[in-house]
Amino acid sequence: MFNLKNSADVDGRLRSSRLPGERASGNAAYIQLRDRVQQRLLAEINPSAARGDSTEVRQAVERLFNETLAEYGLPMSRLERTDIFEQLLADLLGLGPLEALLADDLITEILVNGPNMVYIERSGKLELCGVKFRDNEDVMRVVERIVAPLGRRVDESSPMVDARLPDGSRVNVIIPPLSLIGPTISIRKFPKHALTPDELIKKGAMTPGIADFLRGCVKAALNIVVSGGTGTGKTTVLNALSSFIPEGERILTIEDAAELRLQQQHVVRLEARPANVEGKGLISIRQLVINALRMRPDRIVVGEVRGGETLDMLQAMNTGHEGSLTTVHSNSARDTLRRVETMVLMAGMDLPLRAIREQIASAFDLIVHLGRLADGSRKIVQISEVQGMEGDTVVMQDIFQFVQTTVENGKVQGYFTPTGVRPKFYGRLEAAGLFIQPSTFMPTDPGRIKR
Ligand SMILES: Nc1ncnc2c1ncn2[C@@H]1O[C@H](COP(=O)(O)OP(=O)(O)OP(=O)(O)O)[C@@H](O)[C@H]1O
Ligand SMILES: [Mg+2]
Repeated sequence: MFNLKNSADVDGRLRSSRLPGERASGNAAYIQLRDRVQQRLLAEINPSAARGDSTEVRQAVERLFNETLAEYGLPMSRLERTDIFEQLLADLLGLGPLEALLADDLITEILVNGPNMVYIERSGKLELCGVKFRDNEDVMRVVERIVAPLGRRVDESSPMVDARLPDGSRVNVIIPPLSLIGPTISIRKFPKHALTPDELIKKGAMTPGIADFLRGCVKAALNIVVSGGTGTGKTTVLNALSSFIPEGERILTIEDAAELRLQQQHVVRLEARPANVEGKGLISIRQLVINALRMRPDRIVVGEVRGGETLDMLQAMNTGHEGSLTTVHSNSARDTLRRVETMVLMAGMDLPLRAIREQIASAFDLIVHLGRLADGSRKIVQISEVQGMEGDTVVMQDIFQFVQTTVENGKVQGYFTPTGVRPKFYGRLEAAGLFIQPSTFMPTDPGRIKR
């Protein structure tokens, strides 16, 4: 079984596999070593009780690893030994080849497309990385480790599952026969640190002027919708906007998976619950929104509206819960309104379209639309005021926009500019005692932009 030709061969192969960002996991010699230790481990302990952080199991793996190395007379430096041991531990007890990617803070997304293709997103760019699994079963072993602690199961009868890692990272798993390329895992890593408004400015997602304007809008309790495509930074911006809510207000957050991190003291966090294995026990965002209204909130922050809860959210915004914030998946500020219309229809109330539009027009004050540009950067690309109704249409007016000029060395160049229109709600900002420099709304002269 363990038929290595000679120890120098194994040694060399294990060494050569340790390229940056890559592990020994795809390496035949390493796999043999790992399987041997695993076999012995299985014979000795109950693996389902095994947890990566249990010292007892860790010690057992270490002993078996040392014994196996000795058995085959593999010479190794202390450093190499530690390195390979850590990988082995991750493979046997943790999330295998994914551990190294999870530990790397620069990686924001991990996408496993079957055993041989693992993509990562680093600095906004998607790239194929060298990490590989042995086969489909190897991927499934990791999947089970992810979902088992949550009391979920992935098999032919439930081939799609949403889960979370203990650190809050979001995971979606879909397996054959639905996935035609083998078990597929998509992980959105939970950033260790949520970007603050200042950091968003530094990253070029907005300007200090835009941040001041948004701070005023949040303080003056406008209802704001953050919109954008998948992964454009909606939750990040929602979190940053929430940081502007004055201390002393009672904030209720409602989310599918708790991602928001508010610094204020008076925050009640609610999280929806998926159905269990028997399909029971579901508590939807909609139920939580309705319940939240009975909890005397000053502000309601809903992580994302996707369905019927949108109607309840609109009603809340129109009945004294101003200053509420949420996100919507959409392609432009205008598209956000169309999406919201469709989502209100999902509530099944059979409302006439005009009535829905009137609700939308009176509920929403501002739409902050995000985009992901060609170079992977995420920005606020459009800020529009929802002004009211004209005939059957909801009237919108852009207040700020990002104008892209060129792409230089793969980097998008451009500038943020006010459109020159002062928002109609400006009076509300003033009434709230907030003074925003009139120059904030003066269009930028492109000729004066520094390159
Ligand atoms: N302006 C930015 N610059 C750099 N990274 C950012 C920026 N905004 C967000 N990110 C990072 O991008 C990733 C996705 O952000 P976020 O979760 O906020 O997106 P989202 O639009 O809410 O995604 P989803 O559609 O999946 O809900 C996170 O890792 C986040 O830290
Ligand atoms: Mg989000």
